[in-house]
Amino acid sequence: MAITSSEVRGLVFGVLLYSLHLAEGDLSYSFSEEMRRGSVVGNVAKDLGLDVSKLSARKARIDAEVSNKHYFEINIRTGDLVISDRIDREGLCGDKASCVLKQEIMLENPLELHRVNLHVQDINDNAPQFNRELIQIDISESAVKGARFPIEEAHDADIGQNSVQTYNLQNNENFILGVGTNSVELVLNKELDREKLKEIGLLLTALDGGLPQRTGTVKIHINVLDANDNIPVFNKLVYKSTIPENSPVGSAVLTVSATDADEGLNGEVTYDFGHISDEVKGIFEIDSKTGKIKLMTTVDFETMPLFELRVTAKDGLGLTSYSKVIIDVTDVNDNAPIINVKSLSNPVPENVSPGTEVGIINVQDRDSEKNGQVRCSVQLNVPFKLVPSIKNYYSLVTTGQLDRELVSDYNITITATDEGSPPLSSSKTVQLSVADINDNPPVFEEQSYSAYVSENNKPGSTLCSVSARDPDWRQNGTVIYSLLPGEVNGASVSSYLSVNGDTGVIHAVRSFDYEQFRSFKVHVMARDNGSPPLSSNVTVSVFISDVNDNSPQILYPAPEGSSFMTELVPKAAHGGSLVSKVIAVDADSGQNAWLSYHIVKATDPGLFTIGLHSGEIRTQRDISESDSMKQNLIVAVKDNGQPSLSATCAMYLLISDNLAEVPELKDISYDEKNSKLTSYLIIALVSVSTFFLTFIIIILGVRFCRRRKPRLLFDGAVAIPGAYLPPNYADVDGTGTLRSAYNYDAYLTTGSRTSDFKFVSSYNDNTLPADQTLKKSPTEFADMFGDSDASPEVGMDFLQKIFSDKES
Ligand SMILES: *[C@@H]1O[C@H](CO)[C@@H](O)[C@H](O)[C@H]1NC(C)=O
Ligand SMILES: *[C@@H]1O[C@H](CO)[C@@H](O)[C@H](O)[C@H]1NC(C)=O
Ligand SMILES: *[C@@H]1O[C@H](CO)[C@@H](O)[C@H](O)[C@H]1NC(C)=O
Repeated sequence: MAITSSEVRGLVFGVLLYSLHLAEGDLSYSFSEEMRRGSVVGNVAKDLGLDVSKLSARKARIDAEVSNKHYFEINIRTGDLVISDRIDREGLCGDKASCVLKQEIMLENPLELHRVNLHVQDINDNAPQFNRELIQIDISESAVKGARFPIEEAHDADIGQNSVQTYNLQNNENFILGVGTNSVELVLNKELDREKLKEIGLLLTALDGGLPQRTGTVKIHINVLDANDNIPVFNKLVYKSTIPENSPVGSAVLTVSATDADEGLNGEVTYDFGHISDEVKGIFEIDSKTGKIKLMTTVDFETMPLFELRVTAKDGLGLTSYSKVIIDVTDVNDNAPIINVKSLSNPVPENVSPGTEVGIINVQDRDSEKNGQVRCSVQLNVPFKLVPSIKNYYSLVTTGQLDRELVSDYNITITATDEGSPPLSSSKTVQLSVADINDNPPVFEEQSYSAYVSENNKPGSTLCSVSARDPDWRQNGTVIYSLLPGEVNGASVSSYLSVNGDTGVIHAVRSFDYEQFRSFKVHVMARDNGSPPLSSNVTVSVFISDVNDNSPQILYPAPEGSSFMTELVPKAAHGGSLVSKVIAVDADSGQNAWLSYHIVKATDPGLFTIGLHSGEIRTQRDISESDSMKQNLIVAVKDNGQPSLSATCAMYLLISDNLAEVPELKDISYDEKNSKLTSYLIIALVSVSTFFLTFIIIILGVRFCRRRKPRLLFDGAVAIPGAYLPPNYADVDGTGTLRSAYNYDAYLTTGSRTSDFKFVSSYNDNTLPADQTLKKSPTEFADMFGDSDASPEVGMDFLQKIFSDKES
């Protein structure tokens, strides 16, 4: 005989063979328990509309909501959701009608989260099972037809169709099976007679509805009792009670009670639990005498919110009846929120715009209702905030610009508080680093740099050093120095200076000459090593200071040697008349070029004086007849440097009104090997010279009176500078003194023309080279002075100068 259960528990289970998208975008899949590892549940890439090729880059993964056990994986190549661990529906969900595993699919860049509900479907992997192998039932022989005797149901761990569906009772004379809601009963079909049959043995089979069908059996042993025996009766069919979770061990839950109409021992009832699941065993204890149920351990609402217990009452004769106890556990706020960091972009580049999501936070509170409602925040002093996202999720976003150079690390404390009373809270600190971006150019410590160096420095000497700072990280902040290309006086800057790329120390590449240039500017660039690099530049001014390295140079009279110049002094000259002038220049500047003139030796020491700074030679008194016609002077020119440098020259003066009177001039031709032509030429020249000399002296006289400013030596007509003024010491750009180059030019011009006159060319071989300093030892001069009478070439050089200059 087979009876189908009227209550089909499995109805709750719709057949979910396809995936369905829930309103909020959740995915839902349904699949059977106990599937092999690697079995495909569904294709999430397709169902979410994701690009399969990007799954790997976006780090698609499954995140279990609560447990950290991973039952599923995403196949990055195909987008399939596959099973990665054994899934036993009974182990996960017990006898709950619906078994849903909640998982999340996470994707990064941008962060994305999809919830997946995975419905685990039952398969018939458990057989029905009776609590005992043998059921003892005592039945009075007076029991009437139709009397019902409850039997404890069989239990099947599966659900729905796979749970117990029908029962089958072995054929017998007296009993048939009555199956109702939550009950299986033996129904008396033919009255018993103890005298005929004292004991009856039956076999009860429970069958489930699975495929293949599984069964479980129990033996039933029936004792037929005498007429006057009664079974215990519970005063309620179902007992209900409510206890708060975490109630102390030993708390009374409720008391069950059954009465038995029998007298004495036969009426004494003992209580016990019927079939009880493994999880519930040991949680409750029933007092067998009083029926009082007590807690043996604490109960947790979150794991078991409800208990269903079967209780039995048995009298002395062994007659048993059954009842049910339902215990509701109420929630207490005993779980603090749990903060999970689901995703974190760490480090965050410092250039992210405000509002960028850097992490996803999930908050869970296992309590229910208010006790499980959570508010979440981060501390105030960081540029981050939490933005609620779906359900228990928050995005951690930036609220302002980040700057690694100001703050490179953040400790973000997330605090979650539930709304229970008292509320519970928890916090978690997330460490976030800020990654560098090359956003700072190197900055020089000074706006410009100056270096001072004395001329004639050693090549390679250190001039100064520049320094720039870059607060960026590593190579983004590594500063390299270099010279910007440019020119100084037509040559590349690198031929003057070099800069050490690492230290910024600037060296001179060559020796500088103050007389060539006094200052120059270069640009030094500081560049960092980022990509792209940033740079800035700074001006470095190099000032060269003068060293007294040039002796005074005497331009007039021309240097000694084979040629001597003679000045004519009129016999009528009065005291104080200007006779001649020593002209000298010094290529240095300042004190180093401030020249002073001294007469070192004179034929008649009292006759001539020289202006200390002007170099003008004047008569000191009127010329008298007794004065020697030839007067020689040795003039020393000194600069004011430390130590001072000097030059000397000889000046030959002839006191005469007429050049023809000069006996030595007549002797000039003696050396000329009796060449008539030469003699004539000399006579002609001397005549013309005399004319010019007179002319010049007049002109000079006029000019010296009119002007007292510097003049070039041969300025158009033959003009000797009226005065050689001391230079302006502070003046660096050369306005106060003769530019040395000019002076050399003027002098060279004079000399270079000499080739036009073969006659005088020999006298001009000693023309001073441009770079040579005039120097003459005093002894040489002394010799020359003593020997002056024998000089046949008096005036030649001077004449030659006049001619050549006229010609030019
Ligand atoms: C963050 O916390 C760590 C350790 O907890 C500490 O070493 C570090 O200094 C903190 N950083 C900041 C910026 O407060
Ligand atoms: C330097 O900055 C660039 C961007 O400008 C960045 O990509 C790189 O990671 C930075 N380097 C370091 C060492 O932080
Ligand atoms: C040097 O710096 C100035 C401004 O500081 C800039 O205008 C110029 O372009 C820079 N020169 C080079 C070659 O980088």
